[in-house]
Amino acid sequence: MPVLPILEYPDAKLRAKSERVGEFDEKLSNLVDSLFETMYACNGIGLAAPQVGIPVRIFVIDLGAQPGFSGRKHEFINPIIRHASGSISFEEGCLSVPGLGEFVNRNNSVTIDYQDRHGNQASLNAEGLLAVAIQHEFDHLEGILFIDRLSKLKRLFAKRKLRRQVTL
Ligand code: CO
Repeated sequence: MPVLPILEYPDAKLRAKSERVGEFDEKLSNLVDSLFETMYACNGIGLAAPQVGIPVRIFVIDLGAQPGFSGRKHEFINPIIRHASGSISFEEGCLSVPGLGEFVNRNNSVTIDYQDRHGNQASLNAEGLLAVAIQHEFDHLEGILFIDRLSKLKRLFAKRKLRRQVTL
């Protein structure tokens, strides 16, 4: 499976709303494998399909790349966050927004319904970092980046910093 190039801010494709997956075939399975491989190659703990320019509702997560967390491969297709509660603030980064880490407020606990690569329906209760990662990756499917979730002032500084990174 090939490692795919990751789109970076301010690429307009990161702003598109992704489409549901309809066909659970070998092509889909290969894409999910490529997402994992690309994520591991970049030392990320999560990656969504639109980040590699494919606007479909798929993301993968493996917390194992984060020190102190044990890993498990999670793949989410056509996910729906059915329940979200509590609050947590975690310093997030994003493979599509390199060089920036900011604290973002999220729900601490989520229940996500999704399909696996075979089309089987499943459900997962997640807390803490896994819940944060799910919400971060889910946002990518809606064209939302973590910098959009910062306070107005923090967003202004973040965008200024990113602009400098892009132009220098
Ligand atoms: Co991201």
